Amino acid sequence: MTLPAPTYPLSIAANQIKRSVMRDLIALASQPEIVSFAGGLPAADHLPLPEVETCLEAVLARDGRRALQYGPPFLPLREWIAGYMRQRGVRCGVENVFITNGAQQALEILGRLLLDQGEAAVVEALTFTGIAQVMDAHGARLRAAALDLATGVDPDDFEAALTRGGRARVGAVIPDFHNPAGASLTLPKRQQLAAAAARSGIPIIEDDCYSLLRYTGETLPPIKAFDEAEQVFYVSSFSKIIAPAMRLGWIVAPAPLLPKLTVLRESIDLESSQLLQRVVTEFVTRGLLRPHLGALNAANHERRDALLDALERELGSRARWAAPSGGLFVWVTLPDEVDTAALLPRAFEHKVAFIPGVNFSVEGRYTNCLRLNYSNNVPERIRLGVRRLAAALDEYGAHG
Ligand SMILES: Cc1ncc(COP(=O)(O)O)c(C=O)c1O
Repeated sequence: MTLPAPTYPLSIAANQIKRSVMRDLIALASQPEIVSFAGGLPAADHLPLPEVETCLEAVLARDGRRALQYGPPFLPLREWIAGYMRQRGVRCGVENVFITNGAQQALEILGRLLLDQGEAAVVEALTFTGIAQVMDAHGARLRAAALDLATGVDPDDFEAALTRGGRARVGAVIPDFHNPAGASLTLPKRQQLAAAAARSGIPIIEDDCYSLLRYTGETLPPIKAFDEAEQVFYVSSFSKIIAPAMRLGWIVAPAPLLPKLTVLRESIDLESSQLLQRVVTEFVTRGLLRPHLGALNAANHERRDALLDALERELGSRARWAAPSGGLFVWVTLPDEVDTAALLPRAFEHKVAFIPGVNFSVEGRYTNCLRLNYSNNVPERIRLGVRRLAAALDEYGAHG
């Protein structure tokens, strides 16, 4: 049903805002007969239901109504996060940890902290749509830095982009199992990016929601671990490692900025849920995270292998991709003449969905690419989905 246009004026922001193509697409793709590679959902059958049930009961029994009240950021959760960050090689105390409602809110609060209308910001040539949305919403002019599909952003180009045509206010990078590219930064690239932030004096947001989702290879320290100059804002989240419905994430920031972040956040919501902060704290301090991640990553690994095997069998010579060592996504490059946005309606007819590459490019590039999410389908469905994708591509090739 289309609603009549309101007769009262809306804000400039409301009038200018574009529909979220991604949101529409993911909603369309959620019909059960469609094999959807479109979303970024963690494996639904591995969401830790019994563990969360146990933690919720324990919290309510122990903390009672305190868990249902307003309250300050939950100190034991900040302490756990600070300890985890130190394990990852970051100098971090509880005074550096700012709890948010997910990484997306962290990005918005940092946008409020760092951006003004008309100022420049640097993103990767492929980036998470939520990063671009925040920067757009704050009126930033976006510059894109070159990205290697296997090893992530090019630090030299990123550094050059920070000052190309005037100083940018901020840059944003996704270090591990990049959304959408699947790539992870090499160690030297991490060091170079920290050095670039220090040299330029321009802060970098490191949006690291995926590094704990590694199933092969060695975990590297985040860029923040090399951040002697305190120029990197580290962002992470419990969405992909426990459950999106926890809506909890965090920022590691210089301690003197935390009071400012608190006030910048106040007009969005007053605070994160006491109940959910306590449930997540219970989960991690009971030692449930490690076994949960073990099972989750094993499932993701199996699903990735199923996807790569199926791509090899069905698309072989027609496509290229790099095998990620973790995370949720495989990025596929098709021949230049394929427009994946035009392929998508055919894919829907064949009951398979993906996100066209152009949606992740602030320059309108990557039109021959697509992002496939493998975590939320069992191997059999993945094989079926790739057969359907190949059929859609055959038809596209035959008819253009
Ligand atoms: C790179 C990246 N950053 C941030 C987010 C938002 O995460 P959250 O659910 O914690 O808000 C996502 C979610 O897909 C993401 O992929």
